Amino acid sequence: MKTARATAHANIALVKYWGKRWPGQADLNLPEVGSLSLTLDHYRSETRVAPAEADTFVLDENPGSELEQRRVFQHLDRIWAATGRSGKRPPVDVHSNNHLPTAAGLASSASGFAALTLAGAMAFDLGWDRARLSALARRASGSAARSLWGGWVRLDRGKAPDGSDCQARPIFPQDHLDVLLLVVRTASGKKPLGSTEAMEHTRKTSPYYPAWVETHERDLDAACRVLERRDLDALGPVVEHSAFKMHACIMASDPALLYWNGVTLEVIRAVWQARAAGLVGFVTSDAGPHVKVLCASASAHALATRLRDVPGVIETLTLAPGPDATAEVVG
Ligand code: DP6
Repeated sequence: MKTARATAHANIALVKYWGKRWPGQADLNLPEVGSLSLTLDHYRSETRVAPAEADTFVLDENPGSELEQRRVFQHLDRIWAATGRSGKRPPVDVHSNNHLPTAAGLASSASGFAALTLAGAMAFDLGWDRARLSALARRASGSAARSLWGGWVRLDRGKAPDGSDCQARPIFPQDHLDVLLLVVRTASGKKPLGSTEAMEHTRKTSPYYPAWVETHERDLDAACRVLERRDLDALGPVVEHSAFKMHACIMASDPALLYWNGVTLEVIRAVWQARAAGLVGFVTSDAGPHVKVLCASASAHALATRLRDVPGVIETLTLAPGPDATAEVVG
Protein backbone atom coordinates (compact mmCIF):
# COMPACT_ATOMS: atom_id res chain seq x y z
CA MET A 1 0.00 0.00 0.00
CA LYS A 2 0.92 3.66 -0.38
CA THR A 3 0.76 6.73 1.81
CA ALA A 4 -1.98 9.07 0.59
CA ARG A 5 -3.37 12.38 1.71
CA ALA A 6 -6.75 13.92 0.94
CA THR A 7 -8.59 17.15 1.66
CA ALA A 8 -12.38 17.46 1.56
CA HIS A 9 -14.57 20.45 2.39
CA ALA A 10 -17.65 20.69 4.57
CA ASN A 11 -21.04 20.99 2.91
CA ILE A 12 -24.42 22.35 3.89
CA ALA A 13 -27.62 20.65 2.76
CA LEU A 14 -30.12 22.99 1.11
CA VAL A 15 -32.64 20.22 0.43
CA LYS A 16 -32.15 17.92 3.39
CA TYR A 17 -31.38 14.27 3.80
CA TRP A 18 -33.24 12.84 6.78
CA GLY A 19 -34.16 9.18 7.18
CA LYS A 20 -32.83 5.84 6.01
CA ARG A 21 -34.46 3.33 3.73
CA TRP A 22 -36.31 0.65 5.56
CA PRO A 23 -35.85 -2.27 5.56
CA GLY A 24 -32.26 -1.57 4.66
CA GLN A 25 -28.85 -2.89 5.48
CA ALA A 26 -27.17 -0.81 8.14
CA ASP A 27 -23.80 -1.16 6.47
CA LEU A 28 -25.09 0.32 3.20
CA ASN A 29 -26.53 3.39 4.94
CA LEU A 30 -29.12 4.08 2.26
CA PRO A 31 -30.96 7.40 2.52
CA GLU A 32 -34.72 7.36 2.01
CA VAL A 33 -34.50 10.70 0.19
CA GLY A 34 -32.00 12.47 -2.04
CA SER A 35 -30.41 15.80 -1.15
CA LEU A 36 -28.85 18.95 -2.56
CA SER A 37 -25.88 20.67 -0.96
CA LEU A 38 -23.40 23.47 -1.33
CA THR A 39 -19.77 22.70 -0.54
CA LEU A 40 -18.07 25.39 1.53
CA ASP A 41 -14.63 26.90 1.31
CA HIS A 42 -12.21 27.18 4.20
CA TYR A 43 -13.78 24.51 6.43
CA ARG A 44 -12.19 21.21 5.56
CA SER A 45 -10.78 17.93 6.80
CA GLU A 46 -7.29 16.76 5.87
CA THR A 47 -6.57 13.07 6.26
CA ARG A 48 -3.46 11.01 5.70
CA VAL A 49 -3.51 7.21 5.50
CA ALA A 50 -0.13 5.47 5.82
CA PRO A 51 1.12 1.90 6.30
CA ALA A 52 1.74 1.05 9.98
CA GLU A 53 2.54 -1.79 12.37
CA ALA A 54 -0.89 -1.53 13.97
CA ASP A 55 -4.05 0.50 13.41
CA THR A 56 -3.80 3.99 14.90
CA PHE A 57 -6.11 6.97 14.54
CA VAL A 58 -5.20 10.50 15.56
CA LEU A 59 -7.82 13.23 15.24
CA ASP A 60 -6.70 16.82 15.71
CA GLU A 61 -3.53 15.57 17.48
CA ASN A 62 -5.54 13.48 19.99
CA PRO A 63 -6.39 9.77 19.92
CA GLY A 64 -9.90 9.51 18.46
CA SER A 65 -12.66 8.31 20.81
CA GLU A 66 -13.59 4.63 20.81
CA LEU A 67 -16.60 5.31 18.62
CA GLU A 68 -14.59 7.42 16.18
CA GLN A 69 -11.91 4.71 15.99
CA ARG A 70 -14.55 2.08 15.27
CA ARG A 71 -16.18 4.12 12.50
CA VAL A 72 -12.85 4.97 10.88
CA PHE A 73 -11.43 1.44 10.83
CA GLN A 74 -14.75 -0.07 9.80
CA HIS A 75 -14.75 2.30 6.85
CA LEU A 76 -11.19 1.39 5.91
CA ASP A 77 -12.31 -2.27 6.01
CA ARG A 78 -15.02 -1.36 3.49
CA ILE A 79 -12.54 0.36 1.21
CA TRP A 80 -10.21 -2.62 1.41
CA ALA A 81 -13.09 -5.02 0.67
CA ALA A 82 -13.96 -2.90 -2.37
CA THR A 83 -10.53 -3.60 -3.87
CA GLY A 84 -11.54 -7.27 -4.02
CA ARG A 85 -8.17 -8.33 -2.66
CA SER A 86 -8.13 -11.32 -0.43
CA GLY A 87 -6.67 -11.37 3.04
CA LYS A 88 -6.86 -8.94 5.88
CA ARG A 89 -6.61 -5.22 5.41
CA PRO A 90 -3.08 -4.02 6.16
CA PRO A 91 -2.79 -2.00 9.38
CA VAL A 92 -2.80 1.76 8.86
CA ASP A 93 -1.95 4.97 10.60
CA VAL A 94 -4.67 7.57 10.06
CA HIS A 95 -4.01 11.20 10.88
CA SER A 96 -6.90 13.58 10.43
CA ASN A 97 -7.20 17.29 11.08
CA ASN A 98 -10.46 19.17 11.01
CA HIS A 99 -10.00 22.79 10.05
CA LEU A 100 -13.52 23.29 11.14
CA PRO A 101 -14.32 24.20 14.72
CA THR A 102 -16.41 21.26 15.96
CA ALA A 103 -18.54 23.82 17.77
CA ALA A 104 -19.23 25.75 14.57
CA GLY A 105 -22.38 23.80 13.92
CA LEU A 106 -21.07 22.19 10.75
CA ALA A 107 -20.75 18.44 10.88
CA SER A 108 -17.16 17.24 10.56
CA SER A 109 -18.36 13.76 9.60
CA ALA A 110 -19.13 14.85 6.02
CA SER A 111 -15.71 16.30 5.21
CA GLY A 112 -13.95 13.78 7.48
CA PHE A 113 -15.37 10.66 5.84
CA ALA A 114 -15.06 12.13 2.35
CA ALA A 115 -11.34 12.75 2.96
CA LEU A 116 -10.90 9.32 4.53
CA THR A 117 -12.58 7.65 1.56
CA LEU A 118 -10.35 9.41 -0.96
CA ALA A 119 -7.13 8.89 1.01
CA GLY A 120 -7.98 5.25 1.81
CA ALA A 121 -8.93 4.48 -1.81
CA MET A 122 -5.67 5.95 -3.04
CA ALA A 123 -3.59 4.23 -0.37
CA PHE A 124 -5.13 0.83 -1.25
CA ASP A 125 -5.05 1.50 -5.00
CA LEU A 126 -8.78 1.22 -5.49
CA GLY A 127 -9.14 2.53 -9.02
CA TRP A 128 -12.76 3.70 -8.75
CA ASP A 129 -14.09 6.93 -10.22
CA ARG A 130 -15.40 9.63 -7.93
CA ALA A 131 -19.07 8.75 -8.41
CA ARG A 132 -18.46 5.22 -7.13
CA LEU A 133 -16.29 6.57 -4.35
CA SER A 134 -19.13 8.85 -3.29
CA ALA A 135 -21.36 5.79 -2.83
CA LEU A 136 -18.59 4.30 -0.72
CA ALA A 137 -18.28 7.50 1.36
CA ARG A 138 -22.07 7.44 1.83
CA ARG A 139 -21.77 4.14 3.69
CA ALA A 140 -19.78 5.92 6.42
CA SER A 141 -22.06 8.98 6.52
CA GLY A 142 -24.75 10.06 4.07
CA SER A 143 -23.64 13.68 3.89
CA ALA A 144 -20.02 12.59 3.21
CA ALA A 145 -21.03 11.40 -0.26
CA ARG A 146 -21.60 15.06 -1.21
CA SER A 147 -18.25 16.41 0.04
CA LEU A 148 -16.28 14.80 -2.79
CA TRP A 149 -17.11 17.73 -5.03
CA GLY A 150 -17.08 21.48 -4.80
CA GLY A 151 -20.00 23.71 -5.67
CA TRP A 152 -23.58 22.44 -5.88
CA VAL A 153 -23.95 18.70 -5.40
CA ARG A 154 -26.93 16.38 -5.69
CA LEU A 155 -27.08 13.03 -3.93
CA ASP A 156 -29.58 10.80 -5.69
CA ARG A 157 -31.67 8.43 -3.65
CA GLY A 158 -31.37 5.69 -6.25
CA LYS A 159 -33.39 2.48 -6.30
CA ALA A 160 -30.89 -0.38 -6.36
CA PRO A 161 -31.00 -2.48 -3.18
CA ASP A 162 -27.18 -2.53 -3.08
CA GLY A 163 -27.01 1.28 -3.16
CA SER A 164 -24.85 1.35 -6.29
CA ASP A 165 -27.02 4.09 -7.84
CA CYS A 166 -27.19 6.11 -4.63
CA GLN A 167 -24.32 8.37 -5.62
CA ALA A 168 -23.62 12.06 -5.46
CA ARG A 169 -22.81 14.17 -8.52
CA PRO A 170 -21.80 17.76 -9.06
CA ILE A 171 -24.60 19.66 -10.78
CA PHE A 172 -23.20 23.21 -10.91
CA PRO A 173 -19.73 24.62 -10.28
CA GLN A 174 -18.59 26.65 -7.31
CA ASP A 175 -19.16 30.02 -9.03
CA HIS A 176 -22.59 29.17 -10.45
CA LEU A 177 -24.45 31.54 -8.15
CA ASP A 178 -23.14 34.61 -6.34
CA VAL A 179 -23.95 33.54 -2.78
CA LEU A 180 -22.40 33.31 0.66
CA LEU A 181 -23.42 31.21 3.63
CA LEU A 182 -23.66 32.66 7.12
CA VAL A 183 -23.29 30.25 10.01
CA VAL A 184 -24.97 31.76 13.06
CA ARG A 185 -23.99 29.99 16.27
CA THR A 186 -26.71 30.14 18.89
CA ALA A 187 -25.26 27.81 21.54
CA SER A 188 -22.01 26.24 22.59
CA GLY A 189 -21.53 22.55 23.27
CA LYS A 190 -22.52 19.39 21.47
CA LYS A 191 -25.88 18.63 19.92
CA PRO A 192 -28.31 16.61 22.08
CA LEU A 193 -28.73 13.60 19.79
CA GLY A 194 -26.65 12.60 16.77
CA SER A 195 -28.38 12.56 13.41
CA THR A 196 -28.04 8.81 12.81
CA GLU A 197 -30.03 7.90 15.94
CA ALA A 198 -32.39 10.84 15.58
CA MET A 199 -33.28 9.81 12.02
CA GLU A 200 -34.30 6.36 13.21
CA HIS A 201 -36.33 7.82 16.07
CA THR A 202 -38.15 10.07 13.60
CA ARG A 203 -38.77 7.28 11.13
CA LYS A 204 -40.21 5.04 13.82
CA THR A 205 -42.32 7.54 15.74
CA SER A 206 -43.12 10.70 13.78
CA PRO A 207 -46.54 10.63 12.10
CA TYR A 208 -45.18 13.24 9.68
CA TYR A 209 -42.37 11.03 8.40
CA PRO A 210 -44.36 9.48 5.52
CA ALA A 211 -45.36 12.98 4.35
CA TRP A 212 -41.72 14.11 4.56
CA VAL A 213 -40.65 11.26 2.31
CA GLU A 214 -43.57 11.57 -0.06
CA THR A 215 -43.13 15.29 -0.72
CA HIS A 216 -39.34 15.37 -0.72
CA GLU A 217 -38.45 14.54 -4.30
CA ARG A 218 -40.49 17.40 -5.70
CA ASP A 219 -38.56 19.87 -3.48
CA LEU A 220 -35.30 18.42 -4.73
CA ASP A 221 -36.34 18.67 -8.38
CA ALA A 222 -37.73 22.18 -7.90
CA ALA A 223 -34.51 23.34 -6.21
CA CYS A 224 -32.33 21.95 -9.00
CA ARG A 225 -34.55 23.52 -11.65
CA VAL A 226 -34.46 27.05 -10.22
CA LEU A 227 -30.78 26.70 -9.44
CA GLU A 228 -30.16 25.98 -13.08
CA ARG A 229 -31.50 29.40 -13.99
CA ARG A 230 -29.54 30.97 -11.13
CA ASP A 231 -32.72 32.14 -9.44
CA LEU A 232 -31.88 32.65 -5.76
CA ASP A 233 -35.26 34.27 -5.07
CA ALA A 234 -36.95 31.04 -6.17
CA LEU A 235 -34.38 28.72 -4.58
CA GLY A 236 -34.59 30.35 -1.15
CA PRO A 237 -38.22 29.41 -0.37
CA VAL A 238 -37.56 25.77 -1.34
CA VAL A 239 -34.52 25.73 0.96
CA GLU A 240 -36.51 27.14 3.87
CA HIS A 241 -39.41 24.79 3.23
CA SER A 242 -37.15 21.73 3.27
CA ALA A 243 -35.54 22.77 6.55
CA PHE A 244 -38.84 23.56 8.28
CA LYS A 245 -40.43 20.37 7.05
CA MET A 246 -37.50 18.32 8.35
CA HIS A 247 -37.63 20.02 11.75
CA ALA A 248 -41.43 19.73 11.98
CA CYS A 249 -41.09 16.03 11.26
CA ILE A 250 -38.37 15.69 13.91
CA MET A 251 -40.33 17.67 16.51
CA ALA A 252 -43.37 15.43 15.98
CA SER A 253 -41.37 12.36 17.07
CA ASP A 254 -42.51 10.62 20.23
CA PRO A 255 -40.93 11.50 22.65
CA ALA A 256 -40.45 14.90 21.03
CA LEU A 257 -37.07 15.89 19.73
CA LEU A 258 -36.23 19.57 19.51
CA TYR A 259 -32.92 20.86 18.17
CA TRP A 260 -33.74 24.56 18.32
CA ASN A 261 -33.47 26.99 21.20
CA GLY A 262 -35.00 30.42 21.74
CA VAL A 263 -32.11 32.17 20.00
CA THR A 264 -32.58 29.93 16.93
CA LEU A 265 -36.11 31.32 16.58
CA GLU A 266 -35.01 34.92 17.10
CA VAL A 267 -32.37 34.53 14.40
CA ILE A 268 -34.93 33.07 11.98
CA ARG A 269 -37.24 36.02 12.68
CA ALA A 270 -34.37 38.47 12.20
CA VAL A 271 -33.60 36.96 8.78
CA TRP A 272 -37.24 37.27 7.78
CA GLN A 273 -37.37 40.89 8.99
CA ALA A 274 -34.18 41.64 7.06
CA ARG A 275 -35.76 40.11 4.00
CA ALA A 276 -38.82 42.32 4.37
CA ALA A 277 -36.34 45.22 4.44
CA GLY A 278 -34.82 44.12 1.12
CA LEU A 279 -31.91 41.90 2.10
CA VAL A 280 -31.75 38.54 0.33
CA GLY A 281 -31.21 35.65 2.77
CA PHE A 282 -32.90 32.32 3.48
CA VAL A 283 -32.57 30.13 6.56
CA THR A 284 -31.75 26.50 6.96
CA SER A 285 -30.79 24.46 10.02
CA ASP A 286 -29.46 20.97 10.68
CA ALA A 287 -29.45 18.63 13.65
CA GLY A 288 -28.53 21.39 16.08
CA PRO A 289 -29.58 24.87 17.25
CA HIS A 290 -27.50 26.93 14.81
CA VAL A 291 -28.94 28.78 11.85
CA LYS A 292 -27.33 28.88 8.43
CA VAL A 293 -28.33 31.63 6.04
CA LEU A 294 -27.94 31.26 2.29
CA CYS A 295 -27.67 34.82 1.08
CA ALA A 296 -26.88 36.94 -1.94
CA SER A 297 -23.25 38.06 -1.60
CA ALA A 298 -24.39 41.67 -1.79
CA SER A 299 -26.62 41.17 1.29
CA ALA A 300 -24.18 39.13 3.38
CA HIS A 301 -22.43 41.91 5.25
CA ALA A 302 -25.59 43.75 6.25
CA LEU A 303 -27.28 40.49 7.23
CA ALA A 304 -24.33 39.34 9.33
CA THR A 305 -24.26 42.71 11.12
CA ARG A 306 -27.96 42.43 11.97
CA LEU A 307 -27.65 38.83 13.14
CA ARG A 308 -24.67 39.58 15.40
CA ASP A 309 -26.96 41.99 17.26
CA VAL A 310 -29.57 39.33 18.05
CA PRO A 311 -29.27 38.69 21.82
CA GLY A 312 -27.73 35.27 22.48
CA VAL A 313 -25.89 34.92 19.18
CA ILE A 314 -22.39 33.69 19.92
CA GLU A 315 -20.76 34.16 16.56
CA THR A 316 -21.60 34.69 12.89
CA LEU A 317 -19.22 33.28 10.28
CA THR A 318 -19.30 34.02 6.57
CA LEU A 319 -18.34 31.24 4.16
CA ALA A 320 -18.14 31.09 0.37
CA PRO A 321 -18.81 28.12 -1.94
CA GLY A 322 -15.89 25.70 -1.84
CA PRO A 323 -13.84 23.49 -4.17
CA ASP A 324 -13.59 19.80 -5.06
CA ALA A 325 -11.94 17.41 -2.65
CA THR A 326 -8.37 16.50 -3.64
CA ALA A 327 -6.10 13.53 -3.02
CA GLU A 328 -2.47 12.71 -3.70
CA VAL A 329 0.03 9.96 -3.09
CA VAL A 330 2.76 11.18 -0.77
CA GLY A 331 4.90 8.09 -0.41
C1 DP6 B 1 -29.52 17.24 9.01
O1 DP6 B 1 -24.96 12.46 7.09
O2 DP6 B 1 -24.67 12.99 9.53
O3 DP6 B 1 -27.26 17.37 8.25
O4 DP6 B 1 -25.72 9.13 7.30
O5 DP6 B 1 -26.37 8.82 9.69
O6 DP6 B 1 -24.09 9.73 9.13
P1 DP6 B 1 -25.56 9.63 8.72
O7 DP6 B 1 -26.16 11.09 8.82
P2 DP6 B 1 -25.55 12.49 8.43
O8 DP6 B 1 -26.90 13.36 8.42
C2 DP6 B 1 -26.99 14.63 7.91
C3 DP6 B 1 -28.32 15.20 8.29
C4 DP6 B 1 -28.46 16.69 8.04
C5 DP6 B 1 -29.00 16.95 6.64
C6 DP6 B 1 -28.02 16.77 5.49
O9 DP6 B 1 -26.80 17.00 5.66
O10 DP6 B 1 -28.51 16.44 4.39
